[in-house]
Amino acid sequence: MSHAVVLTAFGPPSVLQPGEVEVAAPGPGQIRVAVRFAGVGPTDLPIRAGFLKAFPVDVGSVLGFEAAGVVDAVGDGVTDVAPGDEVAVFLPGLGGYAEHVLANFWVTKPNAVSWADAAALPASGEAAARTLAELEVKAGETLLVLGGLGSVGTIAVQLAVARGARVVAAVRSTDFAAVEKLGAIPVAYGPELLEQVRTVVGTVDAVLDAAGKGGLDEAITLVGGTARIITLSDHRAGELGVRLSGPDVERIPEALAEAMNALASGALTLRPQVSVPLDQAAEIHTQLEAGTLRSKALLAVR
Ligand SMILES: NC(=O)c1ccc[n+]([C@@H]2O[C@H](COP(=O)([O-])OP(=O)(O)OC[C@H]3O[C@@H](n4cnc5c(N)ncnc54)[C@H](OP(=O)(O)O)[C@@H]3O)[C@@H](O)[C@H]2O)c1
Repeated sequence: MSHAVVLTAFGPPSVLQPGEVEVAAPGPGQIRVAVRFAGVGPTDLPIRAGFLKAFPVDVGSVLGFEAAGVVDAVGDGVTDVAPGDEVAVFLPGLGGYAEHVLANFWVTKPNAVSWADAAALPASGEAAARTLAELEVKAGETLLVLGGLGSVGTIAVQLAVARGARVVAAVRSTDFAAVEKLGAIPVAYGPELLEQVRTVVGTVDAVLDAAGKGGLDEAITLVGGTARIITLSDHRAGELGVRLSGPDVERIPEALAEAMNALASGALTLRPQVSVPLDQAAEIHTQLEAGTLRSKALLAVR
């Protein structure tokens, strides 16, 4: 058995309770990881509350899309890592809030990358690198990132700047200096978005909506169509004909590897993190839900 934080029902943060879960042997193509840190993401909250049924979650299961730790067993056919290797894992089937997790999707953790950064990277790093590739952002082009200081946005801004793109980032007005440090031109999200983007850059070539909180109408106007717009979570995507990179999207291991390499080389800095012991997952959900925590949250497992 393995210690974990278990979803005891769908509901408020208090449904997350410390408990024990079975530790299975890894199947073919899988690894088992002794987790050091697990990441908590915004999607974990509606899943816990029972509002997001697109994910494979039942009462009694364990949340968590990302973690980092040490491989402790490998299944048949796994040749690129061995027990004792350090990895970061992306977990489409969840399970990260635990001492052990089975994973199908991993990347080696370079020595230069901290455990905390390795655990914070997988979901947002994969999403940022993959969507920039899908948008085909090229040197000299102008990219607008909505939510430029979130977990995904922070990474997307820096990877796009490194590609030679001019990046405009929509953030709250008190965050302008922080996003300028990442190499982006800041604009404030909200009703003045369109006008501000027009003032600072005129038009844009592509838009990554890494917030899902509005701005798609303005994005379509600025790009002049929907072909080069991706949203990670805006529920109006279908109605507007915008590509949604949602729960059922195919994940790309190379995208996570690209983000990990950027982190290891020092070309990428992640947003500030806060970490608490695993058993305090419910407290972290409470703070995230209340909007009182603006850092990336991690659970320290061992
Ligand atoms: N499909 C995928 O593979 C995938 C992977 C990871 C994440 N996601 C989804 O992508 C979204 C972002 O994830 P995340 O982890 O980056 O979340 P996050 O860290 O919470 O960041 C969201 C950012 O959006 C900003 N924001 C809030 N309202 C905004 C508005 N009206 N316009 C522009 N920005 C606004 C927030 O800024 P303030 O702090 O000022 O509120 C925050 O910086 C979530 O919906 C998540 O579920 C999808």
